Amino acid sequence: MGTSSFSYTNTTPIQNMGNTTEEKPQIPLLTPYKMGNFQLSHRVVLAPLTRQRSFNNVPQPHAVLYYSQRATKGGFMLTEATGVSDTAQGYPETPGIWTMEQVEAWKPIVDAVHSKGALFFCQIWHVGRVSNTGFQPNGDAPISSTDKELTSQIQSNDIDNAGFSPPRRLTAQEIPQIVNHFRIAARNAMAAGFDGIEVHGAHGYLIDQFLKDGVNDRTDQYGGSLENRCRFAREIIEAVTAEVGADRVGIRLSPFANYMESGDSDPTTLGLHLAETLSRYGILYCHMVEPRMKTLGEKTECLHSLVPMRRAFKGTFIVAGGYDREDGNKAVEEDRADLVAFGRLFLANPDLPKRFEMNAPLNKYDRNTFYLPDPVVGYTDYPFLDETA
Ligand SMILES: Cc1cc2nc3c(=O)[nH]c(=O)nc-3n(C[C@H](O)[C@H](O)[C@H](O)COP(=O)(O)O)c2cc1C
Repeated sequence: MGTSSFSYTNTTPIQNMGNTTEEKPQIPLLTPYKMGNFQLSHRVVLAPLTRQRSFNNVPQPHAVLYYSQRATKGGFMLTEATGVSDTAQGYPETPGIWTMEQVEAWKPIVDAVHSKGALFFCQIWHVGRVSNTGFQPNGDAPISSTDKELTSQIQSNDIDNAGFSPPRRLTAQEIPQIVNHFRIAARNAMAAGFDGIEVHGAHGYLIDQFLKDGVNDRTDQYGGSLENRCRFAREIIEAVTAEVGADRVGIRLSPFANYMESGDSDPTTLGLHLAETLSRYGILYCHMVEPRMKTLGEKTECLHSLVPMRRAFKGTFIVAGGYDREDGNKAVEEDRADLVAFGRLFLANPDLPKRFEMNAPLNKYDRNTFYLPDPVVGYTDYPFLDETA
């Protein structure tokens, strides 16, 4: 974790009261950055974090405080994964954005974040086969690229679940309807006041179930070749950018991850292909999860790097996965990333950018309360720096 001996060669001369010039070390994570048309004052991004406190899939008033606690002027924040339709859920009490009730419920949350001057994108997802009949309308089978059942009972995001049901393979004719759900969710998110959309293409959920050859066993135009496996993601990006404009769209990808039995035999080629292809749509950013994140919770050292994808993608490049102050600063300084998303550290430290600025100690996160339905405990009760002092 972070060291106390942090120093940088980049310095900005500042005048002090005695009329002499002092060198103030610049902290790369806290330098401004222009992301497309958006001016950010720092590079510490709130990663998307499922918190399972949106009862009946409707965002709740307690989320106003939670998100506004983490909002800073010129900061960039992502919502927790938010369902695009009534078939998109696989975990209890996760929010959606397919009904007007949900759109209305998001509005005060977005307003609170905006009133602090932060930029707020909605992460939209469909879990695909990471679900069971209990989450599906009429007790139907979950949908996927495949009819292969998830065998392991490992818990995604450490979330308890009651197991997975065998999925139903979508026909090619049904796919435009699912793509359209993403489009409508994007439209709804803009109606709720969000500044843009992050398409969740990571972590073994529906889009990833198409991307990865470890899952996708189709023989139609959505399976087989790399191009075909990426078709569903491309169609979603086309639909969402047509709806809200490419300058308000980002995508999250985890080519190296194997969560939910969704691995690829050649993740470097997949990641590069996606970075190059999606670049052509002129989307705002690509948000990639580090190869070292073998599971959502642990980082392991690994020889793979996101640098080739960073070079291939023309827009803003966001990295995530196991970052702390020190290596986040290093990633920015070495130009391996424009922005760094922090998950667990931001969850437990609502004033994370300030703590980074002061090189202050961090609150420890408590994974036992990540997904408690409690509106306060483990949610809005992590102390701010001035409260701990
Ligand atoms: C409680 C929790 C919930 C998460 N929910 C999401 C999510 O909704 N969408 C997503 O893309 N990633 C999700 N993740 C992954 C994080 O965004 C992040 O990539 C991961 O925690 C690694 O980053 P970190 O080491 O900074 O925590 C979640 C992780 C945690 C710990």
